[in-house]
Amino acid sequence: MKDLMLKVRNLKVIFPNQMGVLKAVEGIDFDIPKGKCVAIVGESGCGKSVTSLAVMKLLNSPPAMVRVDELVLDGADLKDYTDQMMQEVRGKQISMIFQDAMTALNPVMTIGKQIDEVFIRHGKMDKGEARIATIKALELVGVPEPKSRANQFPHQLSGGMRQRVLIAMAFACMPKLIIADEPTTALDVTIQAQVLDVLSDMQKKHEVSLLLITHDLSVVANMADTIYVMYSGKIVEKAKVRELFLHPHHPYTIGLLGSIPKLSDEVHKFVQIPDAVPHPMFKPTGCYFHPRCSHSTLKCSQVMPPLKTLLNGREIRCFHPQNVVDFEEVAHE
Ligand SMILES: Nc1ncnc2c1ncn2[C@@H]1O[C@H](COP(=O)(O)OP(=O)(O)OP(=O)(O)O)[C@@H](O)[C@H]1O
Ligand SMILES: [Mg+2]
Repeated sequence: MKDLMLKVRNLKVIFPNQMGVLKAVEGIDFDIPKGKCVAIVGESGCGKSVTSLAVMKLLNSPPAMVRVDELVLDGADLKDYTDQMMQEVRGKQISMIFQDAMTALNPVMTIGKQIDEVFIRHGKMDKGEARIATIKALELVGVPEPKSRANQFPHQLSGGMRQRVLIAMAFACMPKLIIADEPTTALDVTIQAQVLDVLSDMQKKHEVSLLLITHDLSVVANMADTIYVMYSGKIVEKAKVRELFLHPHHPYTIGLLGSIPKLSDEVHKFVQIPDAVPHPMFKPTGCYFHPRCSHSTLKCSQVMPPLKTLLNGREIRCFHPQNVVDFEEVAHE
């Protein structure tokens, strides 16, 4: 499809070990349209980071074993790309924003020099041109006094400023796709909102496709167009952001939404999902979520529900979807 920036089909990642096989990602499909922001949301350990690393082909094999039917970036299938070919893709066509800016940045190099290098390498600029571009990039992501800040080292900046630097670096090479894995988790709430605003503005301004990975649904509410909810290595629900928030179908999504406080509540009661994500070596039979689900039946404990597509394009992997409206009836099994 011409309007897709990324198309992933049947992505599987396993980590074999002495005890057996750890299934981190179990055959997921997802699409990122050009210029849109798509989010993958789920609790810790459900396979979000492994998914993003697999897209970048950054997982070491061994230990990881990666299988994918299609991994198409802007029409080019990266499935059989060698390491050398991927080096061209990474940084130039896809760039990543990590959670921990302190480890992503070089501590002994000024931030200006680090951004300059991206412009020199990918923008084919000379040193002088690169520095002008760096200062502009820092200004765009809201770093005050960018000229003098460029001469500082990462430890001289606050966490929020460092994350802005990472955003500036990610956009510096004008990539087609940016993958942001928990880009604001290490920041406090007010700074988190500012950094997300910057990321969202930059994404829209440059019409870049963005894959946003987070465990926190409130982070994606104002940013994503489409949300994929992931549980224990599988996609359990896919919907447009508004539909997901208004009519969450999967009991797991409902649980995730229940843990977001609402201003309208006088005393907010957090709805908790009991227990935790199963260890990927010891997943239950049937629906992986059934031991934690208040709607589960005998069938749920025996059979893995298929991912069904509803008439309005939403996808749901559940025998007992909630809040389904008439027009959404299942299109096919
Ligand atoms: N190199 C590795 N070797 C073995 N197992 C791994 C490796 N990397 C990840 N895993 C396992 O794969 C599963 C998925 O991990 P992943 O890091 O993708 O989770 P996540 O959804 O990103 O969680 P979080 O929200 O905590 O970042 C986990 O059980 C993890 O222990
Ligand atoms: Mg992760």
